[in-house]
Amino acid sequence: MNFETLPGFRSFFPENCFLRNYIFKTWRKSAVSYNFQEYDAPTLEPLELYKEKSGEEIVNQLFNFVDKGDRAVALRPEMTPSLARLAGAKANSLKRPIKWFSIGEQFRYERPQKGRLRSFYQFNVDILGEPGVGADAELIGCLVETLKNFGLEQDDFKIRLSDRQLWILFLKHWNVSDAHMTSVLSIMDRMARLKKDKLRSQLNEYFGDDTDSFINSVEGLMAINSESDMLSFFSQLTLSEIHKQLVDDRLSELASLMQLINSMKIGQFVTIDFSIVRGLAYYTGFVFEAFEATGEGRALAGGGRYDDLIGRLSSNAMEAVGFAMGDVTLLDLLESKKKLPEYSQNPDVMILFSEDEARDCALADAQFLRSSGIKVDYPLKRVNFSKLFKEANQRGVPFVLIYGNEEIEKGLVKLKDFQTGEEYLIDRNERELLEKLKSLL
Ligand code: HAM
Repeated sequence: MNFETLPGFRSFFPENCFLRNYIFKTWRKSAVSYNFQEYDAPTLEPLELYKEKSGEEIVNQLFNFVDKGDRAVALRPEMTPSLARLAGAKANSLKRPIKWFSIGEQFRYERPQKGRLRSFYQFNVDILGEPGVGADAELIGCLVETLKNFGLEQDDFKIRLSDRQLWILFLKHWNVSDAHMTSVLSIMDRMARLKKDKLRSQLNEYFGDDTDSFINSVEGLMAINSESDMLSFFSQLTLSEIHKQLVDDRLSELASLMQLINSMKIGQFVTIDFSIVRGLAYYTGFVFEAFEATGEGRALAGGGRYDDLIGRLSSNAMEAVGFAMGDVTLLDLLESKKKLPEYSQNPDVMILFSEDEARDCALADAQFLRSSGIKVDYPLKRVNFSKLFKEANQRGVPFVLIYGNEEIEKGLVKLKDFQTGEEYLIDRNERELLEKLKSLL
C-alpha cells in the first residue's frame, strides 16, 4: 500500500525541520527580547470553546469529532480562546500586564492553496490586562521586530492598521443594526476576495437599493491612507451626538497609537488601511495585519484588541490584545527574498582512523569533543581512508581529524583545515585538541 500525506498536511524531512527550527528560534528570540513569557495549551480542546467565539469562518473550518467518551472536541484552529481560558482561570494571581507568547501547531479545514494549509504553525503573542494603547503599540513593535529579525526590511513588508470601532461607527451611519454588525463585518473582511456580483448579492440582504452606494462609500473608506483623510471622511458621516463623540475618541486614540509607533521608529512599516477588518468575531478595537509590501499573497500575521473574550470564557473579565504569525506565508516570503539560512548536513569535524588501535583513541576523543559541544561524525564501518578524505572535502566538511598509526605512536593527531588547506600536528591531549578546534571553528 502507498500512503500519502493528507491534503494540506506536511511531512518534515530534515531540511524542512532545519528551517522550521530556524523560524521557531527567531520567533522565540523576538518574543523573549520583549520579555514575553512562553506558555502552551492542549492541541485538542472542547468544541464549545470555538463555537460562536471565533466567528463563523473558523467554525466552518474546524477539525471536529466526537471522542470515545462522547465529548464534542476540535483540534485547535487558533490559540486565542485557549489563552483566554488559561489566563482567565488564573487572572487574580497573575501580575499585570500579562505578556505571554506561544509557538504551536494549528488546524483548519481550509481549501489547501498557496499560503493556506490545513496544518500550520503559529507564533502567538498577546498582552492581557492592559487597556491602554501602549499595549497595542508594544505588539505592533514586536511584530515589526520579529519580521526584521528574519532579515526582512522596509521594502519587504507592511503592517496595515485599522479600527473595528470606527468600522462599526461607519456601519451605524449606514443604519446597520447591532444584530447584523458581525455578519456585515465578515462580508467586509472577505470583500477583496469576493467577485463583485457575489458581494452585491450578499450585501443586498442588508442594504437593498442602497447596496451600490454603500459599496462606493466602503471603497472611499478603504482608500484612506492618512490621518487627515480619515478626519475628513468621518466628519461627513451622519451620526448621533453620542456616536460623533465616539468617533472623536477613537480618532484621538488612533493618533496616540501612531505617536507611540513613531516614537519606536517603526512608523515607516505601518499604514492606516481600513481594508483590514479581520475575520474573527471577537475583535473590539484596533486590528492589524502584516503583508508582503507588494500587497500580494495572504497575510503574514494578523491580530488586534479583543477586550471581551476573556470575560466570556471565564469569570474574570480582562482586556487583551495580540497577534499571530503563521509559518507558511512567512516561509514563502523568506524563500522568495533569499533570506533563508542554508541547510547543511556536515559536522564541524569528521574523524578518520585507520587501524583498531587508532580507533580506540579516535572514539574516545570523539566522545570528549561531542560532550564539549562540537558536532563530530565518523564512519560507522571500515572504509577506504583516502576516498573518505576526498569526499569530506567535496561535501564541504570544514575540518578532518586524522588518526593514523604513525601519529598515534608519537602521541599526535593530524588536523586538516579544508578551508585554508593548512595541516596541524597536535598533541593528543584533550585540552589542546579542544582549544585548537575552538580557535579555528
Ligand atoms: P488569523 O488571522 O486567523 O488570526 O491567523 C493569523 C495568521 O496565521 C495568518 O495571518 C496566517 O499567517 C496564519 N494562518 C491562518 N490560517 C492559516 C492556514 N490555513 N494556513 C496557513 N497559515 C494560516 C488568528 O488566528 C488570531 N487568533 C490571532 C490573534 C492572536 N489575535 C489576537 N491574538
